[in-house]
Amino acid sequence: MKKILILFAHPAFHKSLINKTLMEAIKDLDGVTVNNLYEKYPDFFIDVPVEQKLLTQHDIIIWQHPFYWYSAPAIIKEWMDLVLQHGFAYGTHGRALEGKWAMSCISTGGRKEVYSAEGKNRYTINQFLAPFIQSASLCRMENLPPFVVHGSNTLSRDDIKKFADDYRKVITLLRDNEIDSEQLNTMEYMNEIIKHDA
Ligand SMILES: Cc1cc2nc3c(=O)[nH]c(=O)nc-3n(C[C@H](O)[C@H](O)[C@H](O)COP(=O)(O)O)c2cc1C
Repeated sequence: MKKILILFAHPAFHKSLINKTLMEAIKDLDGVTVNNLYEKYPDFFIDVPVEQKLLTQHDIIIWQHPFYWYSAPAIIKEWMDLVLQHGFAYGTHGRALEGKWAMSCISTGGRKEVYSAEGKNRYTINQFLAPFIQSASLCRMENLPPFVVHGSNTLSRDDIKKFADDYRKVITLLRDNEIDSEQLNTMEYMNEIIKHDA
């Protein structure tokens, strides 16, 4: 069984619908640790040794957050700047994360169609996630496709519940090492691994 660390960041958790529902759906799973960064560090004083120890204790690292300004809420950047130190996460002797898996789980206000070369936002989600993908690569981690919830304002409670159920299935498959690595290469989003009847 793989151990999964969710690096959860929502600066207005009391207003969250999507991320709160997703997080509620997975937080009781064995082998899953939810690390709620805004709750833990409201003053942004991140405890680097504590965070590094958490990383070494897990096999799969997931950044879960709403998409803010085509990126992540600020504490994720602060966490990356401080925790992914040279000599720990990268560099000749920085091999603490080698072979672990990295994934983003994000919700966006924008619908899927606007995240394309022809769409209003001009770039795909995977293009916007380049800093996360390349940071993980620099740290010798393997990247998984992101789990994405688009069009957050347009979703019904039932829609959100379905995304939360799928997220729980994805996390369970990852934890139990039941992901087909061939299939990973063909997917844009991790959501696609869960089959729905037409
Ligand atoms: C400060 C801020 C920036 C945002 N930037 C984006 C953005 O760049 N692209 C986008 O599609 N949605 C953007 N949104 C919409 C949020 O992504 C959306 O409200 C959120 O994913 C909903 O999840 P929640 O219910 O967990 O808050 C932004 C919202 C806020 C408050």
